[in-house]
Amino acid sequence: MRTTILQIKEMKQKGKRIPMLTAYDYATAKLIDGAGVPLILVGDSLGMVVLGYESTIPVTMDEMLHHTKAVVRGTEQSLIIGDMPFMTYHASVSEALHNAARFIQEAGAQAVKLEGGETMAETVRRVVECGIPVMGHIGLTPQSVHQLGGFKVQGKTQEAAIRLVKDACALEEAGVFAIVLEAIPTPLAKLITKKVGVPTIGIGAGPFCDGQVQVVSDLLGLFTDFVPKHAKQYAKLSDIIKQSVGEYINEVQAGTFPTDKQSYTMDESLLAGLEQEYIW
Ligand code: KIV
Repeated sequence: MRTTILQIKEMKQKGKRIPMLTAYDYATAKLIDGAGVPLILVGDSLGMVVLGYESTIPVTMDEMLHHTKAVVRGTEQSLIIGDMPFMTYHASVSEALHNAARFIQEAGAQAVKLEGGETMAETVRRVVECGIPVMGHIGLTPQSVHQLGGFKVQGKTQEAAIRLVKDACALEEAGVFAIVLEAIPTPLAKLITKKVGVPTIGIGAGPFCDGQVQVVSDLLGLFTDFVPKHAKQYAKLSDIIKQSVGEYINEVQAGTFPTDKQSYTMDESLLAGLEQEYIW
């Protein structure tokens, strides 16, 4: 039985912190789900950490659906959120509805996430009215990286901080079930968390949010291009992978892999017959 939207909202009321992680493939999602993470986001960060793009902007609906389907197949307990990619919910409310529905109907996700505050409120309201739970995302919104002038901390001036509080309130009013706060000062995230009734999920937003989200490739030390300040590496799988591949290369070259353990036998009399017929 998967985590429900209601349970996530109740966690805030009960003061229970909410862990969330990204996942992009069947095998990783299965491990994360088995470990008991209640929320899995198939983030468009996959563009950078899985597909090697420089930002999340090139990510398409087809790519998101492909990965979301794999994550859904690998999970039983976690609630799966599909991240709506750049320009798939901006041009019109009807396009947003159509694309949000694809995540639920085709990919099997239970909710969608989209970036933006007050300006996206009407779109959020319509998607929620159609029965699709929506997670908001404000602060550093990577799809607006060019507008923001880079991957920078947001809400540092009084004006910007007030805007973010208003954005959070507008999203709550429009019906989101939770809001991601990305790269904003800790005291501002604390204030927003107190102000809104829905859970806030922080990434680079300090310890006072109702939950935290991390990109799984950062958490496991799989992505080596850079480590964001907000990330904590709980493992360094890149080292383990490099070491394992090195050992494999050495063993193949030395002829010590494979051994009988990784090989198959056949009936001796069959072999003798084959040798008589084919080996001169
Ligand atoms: O795409 C993503 O992984 C995200 C999280 C960092 C919140 O949006």
